Amino acid sequence: MLIDSISKLINQQINREFFSAYLYLDMSAKAENAGFKGMAAWFMAKYQEENQHAMKMIRYLLDHGAQVELASIENPSSDYSDPLDMFEQTLIHEQSVTASILNLVDAAMSSKDHATYIFLQWFVTEQTEEEATVGDIIAQLKLVGGRGEGLFMLDKELGSVAATVMQPALAGTV
Ligand SMILES: [Fe+2]
Ligand SMILES: [Fe+2]
Repeated sequence: MLIDSISKLINQQINREFFSAYLYLDMSAKAENAGFKGMAAWFMAKYQEENQHAMKMIRYLLDHGAQVELASIENPSSDYSDPLDMFEQTLIHEQSVTASILNLVDAAMSSKDHATYIFLQWFVTEQTEEEATVGDIIAQLKLVGGRGEGLFMLDKELGSVAATVMQPALAGTV
């Protein structure tokens, strides 16, 4: 049994996770259009992960007999000047998701909802990993100066990272 304020916050977080998926799907398409097939695969893998985050939360609500309230997903479409811009926007987005997860943790703590508090620990750890990974990619993009052979190699590398985690049906030819 979850109190209403907690299930409302989890429902809002489900929408944020689906928005994240949608945002990364848009970035994946734009990266592929720009010729960065490895990055496109990387963002497609992120799309899958974010969907899984939403599904974990939906499962949690259902396991507690709470209502799942799916809201409209905002249009993620935006223009990016280059891969560095795309990954910097990704980091800004993930930082806002982290803040929203931590807000949910605060709410679980203050309402003494131990089950939700424990459930959220996985997401707190996941956010740390995501921010670190994206931060590393930004550093590498800055190192290669956003062009030439270095960028080509980095694109290849991101493609092979994605290939290890992606569902075959969504994998492009990297
Ligand atoms: Fe997420
Ligand atoms: Fe994320």
